[in-house]
Amino acid sequence: EMNSFTNNNIEKIYITGEKKLTGSVNISGAKNAALPLMALSLIINRDFNLYNVPDLADTRLMFDLLFDLGIKINWKKGNLNFDGKPKKDEASYDLVRQMRASILVLGPLLASKGSAKVPLPGGCAIGSRPIDLHVMVMEALGANVTFDGGFIISSLSNEGLKGGVINFPKVSVGATESAIMTAVLAKGQTKILNAAREPEVTDLANCLNKAGADIKGVGTEVLIINGVKELNQVSHSVVSDRIEAGSFAIASSITMGNIEINNINPKNLTEFINILKLTGTKVEMFNNSMNVSCSQRPKPHNVGTDPYPGFPTDLQAQYMALMAIADGKTLIKETIFENRFMHVPELMRMGAKISINKQEAEIYGVKKLKGAKVMASDLRASMCLILGALAASGTSEIDGLYHLDRGYENLEDKLTNLGAIIKRSNEL
Ligand code: UD1
Repeated sequence: EMNSFTNNNIEKIYITGEKKLTGSVNISGAKNAALPLMALSLIINRDFNLYNVPDLADTRLMFDLLFDLGIKINWKKGNLNFDGKPKKDEASYDLVRQMRASILVLGPLLASKGSAKVPLPGGCAIGSRPIDLHVMVMEALGANVTFDGGFIISSLSNEGLKGGVINFPKVSVGATESAIMTAVLAKGQTKILNAAREPEVTDLANCLNKAGADIKGVGTEVLIINGVKELNQVSHSVVSDRIEAGSFAIASSITMGNIEINNINPKNLTEFINILKLTGTKVEMFNNSMNVSCSQRPKPHNVGTDPYPGFPTDLQAQYMALMAIADGKTLIKETIFENRFMHVPELMRMGAKISINKQEAEIYGVKKLKGAKVMASDLRASMCLILGALAASGTSEIDGLYHLDRGYENLEDKLTNLGAIIKRSNEL
């Protein structure tokens, strides 16, 4: 885990569990929507406004990356204003290596400058996470791509970007976003088959269409894009974070609490909510909110992760925390990433009984978890441990906060408002 070498932050989170969480929480804008939307500033060249942008380590990093490329940016609270074109075609190694989603600048940079030099990305340690599909996208749209000195180097002939057919061999959120962002300015028509349908992909396409792009089939697995000459000024509000919302829903279930979750579109969580209900949690859905309450020990229910509209891999670790105290045995299958069970040994420190066989985890529910010292290994794993600690007896100490800060805005404040006993400090 490379981040542990560069992270001097020795702060830890201390949680004393067994408090029922009650009250209401406002969900922030989605990190995974904000990152590609911010990258649009490379191709929307004047007065581009994004609202509801979460203040996170990852969005700050994307800010730095775009600023370094020469974009003028003004960030006030959740509002970002972008202006100007990129001044160079090479993305900073020191920034890109810290976040995998940096690969999202490749297509827009190529579209804007006619060439792009982007270091191979780093980021979360969940599986090998190749970038071959992003490269496939660039080549399908007329780019020449080579690798040298740790960089992906892409360039265009005099003809520029040309529409093409992109038939993804596997569903990829990031590669679909790369394809959309690059094809909108290509000459002619692009057809994307087997596209990812995540709400964050839809949010990106909706923003682009408002800016004058011509993307058809938004929200489906076939996208038809007719290239336009340029994109116009646009203002857009980032879709709310369904993963943060799902995490708070589990916080309610796991503490037998009652939480009103605001500023969300519950439809983006349909499959997750269906499963949560099957475990005995009560969920009432409204247009922009939902109420999640629970008054019984969770019932086990098997899940497998899948691309949207399936059960999100980004909620798999959190759901496992809930099943750790279920009344029976649960199977959880991870089909998206090959190494996304790193929370398991840590959850076991809290007394969970889990065995792993390749991509499948078997969870034998225990009545009660016990507070322990644990280490977060990636973003969603860190939330799994927070949830376990909220339910556990005694106090837990959670290390590795760097990961948590990449993706959850004001987490301690939000949990404290709901009645959790949580503090961040260098010592207890
Ligand atoms: C995005 C999300 C991440 C989420 C994931 C799956 C962002 C910033 N991150 O990540 O939180 O867990 O979707 O919902 O939006 N793959 C390849 N080649 C590629 C690209 C991906 O083989 O070029 C593979 C991956 O290794 C993985 C699968 O495709 O097995 C899906 O990954 P993908 O959807 O691309 O994830 P990200 O866009 O990186």
